[in-house]
Amino acid sequence: MDQLLAAAFAAREHARAPFSGFLVGAAVECDDGRIYGGCNVESASYGLTICAERTAVFAAVAAGASGFRRMAIATAASKLTPPCGACRQVLWDLCGDIPILLGNAAGDTLTYQLRELFPEPFDAKSIA
Ligand code: THU
Repeated sequence: MDQLLAAAFAAREHARAPFSGFLVGAAVECDDGRIYGGCNVESASYGLTICAERTAVFAAVAAGASGFRRMAIATAASKLTPPCGACRQVLWDLCGDIPILLGNAAGDTLTYQLRELFPEPFDAKSIA
């Protein structure tokens, strides 16, 4: 298995999803090769929940990373799980047009470019 996807599955082990029961792991690969994992963490005040993708990329930024090569997202869903709309925005803001590798427990995989998932972005250029 791709090392980045394996890191996403490892991060998924830490997911805290007592309300939805939907466990998500993500991992982002930095330009220097470092990999940071993240998982979804849910709140009893549902709207405060954070997705695995943002947890991963925020952890990387907090550790000093600034350039990113790829992200992987891991779930057990039979239909592969793409990033939600909020995460697409944040990934675009911080990572740009990176490949997004989706994987599930059945071994299915699919890779999108973020631009395919987020074709008309609002970003820093929009407010320059
Ligand atoms: N979730 C993620 O972590 N990433 C996604 O891309 C989709 C949704 C989480 C949020 C919530 O904890 C659970 O999955 C159900 O929406």
